[in-house]
Amino acid sequence: MPEPRDFLDLDQIDAATLRDIIDVSTRIKASGERKPLLADRTLAMVFEKPSTRTRVSFEVAMQTLGGNVILLEPNGSQLGRGETLADTARILSQYVDVIMYRTSSAANLEEMAGAATVPVINGLTDRSHPCQIMADIMTFEEEVGPIAGKVVAWSGDSNNVANSWIHAAVHFGFEFRVASPADLRPPQDILDWAAANGGNISVGDDPAAAVSGADCVVTDTWVSMGDKEAEKRRALLAPYRVDAALMAKAGPEAVFMHCLPVYRGDEVTADVVDGPQSVVWTEAGNRLHAQKGILLWCLLGSAAFA
Ligand code: CP
Ligand code: NVA
Repeated sequence: MPEPRDFLDLDQIDAATLRDIIDVSTRIKASGERKPLLADRTLAMVFEKPSTRTRVSFEVAMQTLGGNVILLEPNGSQLGRGETLADTARILSQYVDVIMYRTSSAANLEEMAGAATVPVINGLTDRSHPCQIMADIMTFEEEVGPIAGKVVAWSGDSNNVANSWIHAAVHFGFEFRVASPADLRPPQDILDWAAANGGNISVGDDPAAAVSGADCVVTDTWVSMGDKEAEKRRALLAPYRVDAALMAKAGPEAVFMHCLPVYRGDEVTADVVDGPQSVVWTEAGNRLHAQKGILLWCLLGSAAFA
């Protein structure tokens, strides 16, 4: 049996495929088409952490493409009583055509994908959030233009979202500058992967230097789901808050992005996230369109791009 087309992390998928997924997502959004390309297919969504955008956008994407959706959470399934992920994956694979999984650890995701015989999509782990960054690339290109050769600056906690931005920078050919406190930098193995693959990534502790002349400024919550010591993190990250003064150091046409949910006054001030440079609402809306591209690729492969 051929390996299922998993969507686990952006470093595991080739650049041409990622570009095709973005292009098909953009095309479907622009045309407003509602073809039942996934009629009779079923998506199981397994959430071990809360979600608004990922849950609703995957559900609506699947329904709009003619498919069905089933939601599982630990409390309402045997996962909450200790049935293993591998056993769950084997069972689900006999009922559904694709699994979307949000979990705390990358190891859980690997266990699910290792045992499943249908495609598994990463709906967020503490290490990465690849579906989010597909919507982010799509949004940047809609709002600004081709992202290749551009500069994206991150100021704040180098978390799961930042890691997927690093993967994307390599595949889409843009510069990614990180400003984070020394204790909250990206994992070395991700930086090593980027360096080995020709990535233009810099990591430092100076937000002004990172943002200088950038085409896009991005940040995310200072306290991700599962993070401990919230007050310590807030103190450490306060100098990395994105405010109007920091945005003014970016390029004149720079956009502000954030995966949401946002905590105004922490990682970004309200005047920035609600201001004219912010594209966060388009970014959240594009989750729906990007999910369609991802689902079509997982279930139809290159036929989805014809
Ligand atoms: N950005 C994002 O993944 O949001 P949710 O946690 O609401 O899915
Ligand atoms: N970094 C955040 C992203 C939420 C969508 C978290 O993991 O909680």
